[in-house]
Amino acid sequence: MRKKIIAGNWKMNKTVAEAVTLVQGIQAELAGCLDVEAVVCPPFTALKSVSDALADSQIKLGCQNMSDQDNGAYTGEISHTMLRELFVKYVILGHSERRSYYGETDKIVNRKVKKALANTLRPIVCVGETLEQREAGRTEQVVEEQVRGSLADITAAQFEDVVVAYEPVWAIGTGKTATTEQAQEVHAFIRSIIRDMVGEKAAKGLRIQYGGSMKPSNAKELLSQPDIDGGLIGGAALEARSFIDIVKAGM
Ligand code: 13P
Repeated sequence: MRKKIIAGNWKMNKTVAEAVTLVQGIQAELAGCLDVEAVVCPPFTALKSVSDALADSQIKLGCQNMSDQDNGAYTGEISHTMLRELFVKYVILGHSERRSYYGETDKIVNRKVKKALANTLRPIVCVGETLEQREAGRTEQVVEEQVRGSLADITAAQFEDVVVAYEPVWAIGTGKTATTEQAQEVHAFIRSIIRDMVGEKAAKGLRIQYGGSMKPSNAKELLSQPDIDGGLIGGAALEARSFIDIVKAGM
C-alpha cells in the first residue's frame, strides 16, 4: 500500500512570521498525523523557523528548489548540505514555474534529482503539459519525455525515495482542475513508463501526486483514484484550514 503524501508548495509567499503562524495552525491538527504524510515547503528564508516549529512533529519539511552543485562559487544557489542541516527531507524539483520562467530543462532537473538522492533528500519531480500541448494531443508525448529525461539513470532502488508530481500546467493557479478521469489516465500512464524504465516493483511503489487547483472540495475524489497517491498543493496550502482539510481527505 502506498502511503498518501500531501505537500504544500508555498511558492514565493509568506514572511517568516507568517510562515510560523501557518505551520502552527497546521500543527494544531496534524502534528500527530500518521495516516497521510504531510509535507510543507516554505520559501528558503522561512525554512529554519518552520523547521524549529516542526520539531517532534510528524509533519515533514520540504523546499522548492536546490542546486545541482555541492558548494562553491554559485551565487544565489542553495546546496543539499545547507538544506539537510535544517532537517529538510523533500525537495520539489522541475516545477513548471522553474521550467518556464528559469529555463530548467530535463537535463538540469535530472542533475538535481541525482544530487538530491545521493545526499538523502527525496525529490518531488514535477511534470506536466501545457494547454497548447494537451489540445494538440501531445500530453503523453510531453509527459513521457519529461519523465524519462528528468529521471534518467535513476535505479529501481533509488525510486523508493522519489515522488513524481503530475501537474498539468493549465490547471496550476487557474482554478481549473483536471477531471478525475484525465488525472487518473495520466497517472496510470506515468506509472507504466516507470515500469518500463525500472520494473514492476519500483512502479508499484512509486507515489504520484496530482497538482493543479487541488482543494478541499475536489481532493477526495482525486485521491480516491487508484494511481493518485497524493497532492502537491499551491494556493490551498497557504491557509491552514484548507491544507488540513485536503490532508484529511487523503485519510
Ligand atoms: P495551485 O494549487 O495553486 O494550482 O498550484 C499547484 C502547484 O503548482 C503546486 O506545485
